[in-house]
Amino acid sequence: MSFDFIRHDVKEQKTKSRYRQLVCNRTASQGKEIIVNGKSYLNFSSNDYLGLNNHVEINKALQEGADKFGVCSSSSSLVTGYHYAHQALEDDVCQWLNKPKCLLFSSGFAANLALFQALGKSEESHFYLDKLSHASMIDGAYHSKAKVKRFNHNNIDHLTKLLNSSGENATDSPNKLIASEGVFSMDGCQAKVLELAHLATSQQAWLYLDDAHSIGVVGNEGQGSNYFADIDITMATLGKAIGTSGAFLTCNEDLHEYLVNFSRHYIYSTAISPAIAWATRKSIELIQKEHWRREKISELSALFSEQLSQEVELVATQSSIHAIIIGDEKKALSISDNLKKQGIWLTAIRPPTVAINSSRLRVTICANHNTKDIKYLAECINKATA
Ligand SMILES: Cc1ncc(COP(=O)(O)O)c(C=O)c1O
Repeated sequence: MSFDFIRHDVKEQKTKSRYRQLVCNRTASQGKEIIVNGKSYLNFSSNDYLGLNNHVEINKALQEGADKFGVCSSSSSLVTGYHYAHQALEDDVCQWLNKPKCLLFSSGFAANLALFQALGKSEESHFYLDKLSHASMIDGAYHSKAKVKRFNHNNIDHLTKLLNSSGENATDSPNKLIASEGVFSMDGCQAKVLELAHLATSQQAWLYLDDAHSIGVVGNEGQGSNYFADIDITMATLGKAIGTSGAFLTCNEDLHEYLVNFSRHYIYSTAISPAIAWATRKSIELIQKEHWRREKISELSALFSEQLSQEVELVATQSSIHAIIIGDEKKALSISDNLKKQGIWLTAIRPPTVAINSSRLRVTICANHNTKDIKYLAECINKATA
């Protein structure tokens, strides 16, 4: 058979308990439940952190955007795909994050590829990535021409050592980029944003933060890592706390101009839906003013760790993401299946998404959960892991 590796690799996934399959579902109870094969489950695997998906005002804005500008941009941005809705959204983001420029992408994955490939134009560029950076950052960095180094997770000393190491003329290079996630997707912990920003300034490097899991959730108005320090370049997906789809990147005027001229992911891709851009403006407005959503996540998160038994290995975080480290892939799957029987949907995260022997249950606590949901979750996890 042609492409023999296809069957072989899939079979191997199954034997390693790493097999993945799509599960068709629909959301219910204002997004906190999902229905799979007619059965309803409390959903603790969603990235709808603020509970904004399906919000009536955002849906209304989506309809209004569709009526005014159409669902489809009908072209790439540089041809005729850049509409008033896109420009208005970019302006809103610039104001919100206090940044000079913003550029929209069809996804966070595309934005990360675009940024690393644009800045990694030649071997004169040096990238320093946190070891737990998202797959799209890693792919973007390694598919570029830059020299790439990875620093130990959240380890500023190690990063400093790498930046100071004289090999490959790195210290003399004017093109240094430090890159990290703002809140890490698989364990929920926060990057040391202030320390990273100071180090970047002292090393004349730029700091790039992927705020996929910080935007909306972190900061007094949900502005993510820029709440703590002035970040040179920030990327945030619209498909998590913001509750729409696509991504934005904020940066200075020069980089904006460069990306518009040279980023293949930007130039050769249809602009995001103008209706979605319009709906996203409404979502950002709600995020800025509805502080109770962030407060609820904090309260419920504190309750969760209080209710869990001492034996459960929980990564302590201030975010919506709470990882329970199980270790073995089979065990993580079996606990996840057990929880399903109790009406809880909690996906087991396994390698290669996380390191071998660190399979985990990734609990996401959202603003639309309540104390009863959290107590029930903790009770079921305590039983299932005992
Ligand atoms: C840290 C991080 N960066 C980037 C992405 C990609 O974003 P998107 O889903 O918009 O492609 C994700 C999400 O899946 C993510 O978790």
